[in-house]
Amino acid sequence: MPDLQPKLIRTSTLAKFKSEGRKFSCLTSYDYLTAGVFDEAGIEVILVGDSAADNALGYKTTLPITVEEIIPFGRAVAKAVERALVVVDMPFGSYETGTEDALRNALLIMKQTGASSVKIEGGQRSSKQIAALTEAGIPVMGHIGFTPQSIHSLGGAKVQGRGADAEKLIDEALAVQEAGAYAVVLELVPRDLASEITKLLSIPTIGIGAGNGTDGQILVWTDFAGLYPGKPRKFVKQYLSMREELLKAARSYRDEVASGSFPDAEHSHD
Ligand code: KIV
Repeated sequence: MPDLQPKLIRTSTLAKFKSEGRKFSCLTSYDYLTAGVFDEAGIEVILVGDSAADNALGYKTTLPITVEEIIPFGRAVAKAVERALVVVDMPFGSYETGTEDALRNALLIMKQTGASSVKIEGGQRSSKQIAALTEAGIPVMGHIGFTPQSIHSLGGAKVQGRGADAEKLIDEALAVQEAGAYAVVLELVPRDLASEITKLLSIPTIGIGAGNGTDGQILVWTDFAGLYPGKPRKFVKQYLSMREELLKAARSYRDEVASGSFPDAEHSHD
């Protein structure tokens, strides 16, 4: 069967997908090996999310991760990827203070990782930064709805845009688009509202906990693979039980070492 996938996914490819009504998928990754697997599988966008904070660095939220900490993850992912669009999150504290700081940090991320784009949380409040980066030639993915860097002001991971707040979220989406973003993540948004925003915008929307009416979908890879401990959130589908499998394998290994059955002759040199 001919490969209908474009050789290289660019921001313009996502725009084309939207115009054709073709849905695309995104996963996070923070390392060389998983990024290589996701790229080979045809995942169109790989996000080096600031979710590396809790998934790779053991922080409780995404707030502590810094530009210096996210860069090595971005570099490892960009090295592994041959086709997918690689996007790196701008960490909390790296862009809110103004366009100058945002530009300096985005340039650092682009230069030192080899990624093709950055992602910035926030609608109207981040529109100046999105515009400044876009004008400097850095493609920006927006992120509205529940924005994890604002977890304390939002009072937890709650669905955004319900009832009277719907209009406000539509305005946020339009602000991100007008500022020049090429795509926008909609996180924890009622599915009908996410569909409405998707129809209203000319740029692609990427949903997480936003139903199936968006142009693309994104999941955090450790959620998708069932590696993250605890009960998955409602919108997470686990395509693998990786934590259970790893636990089983590690216990077998420990038992075989304890009993002396590993390494056996097959796994030893003469
Ligand atoms: O950092 C991240 O993983 C994200 C996704 C939840 C979109 O921003």
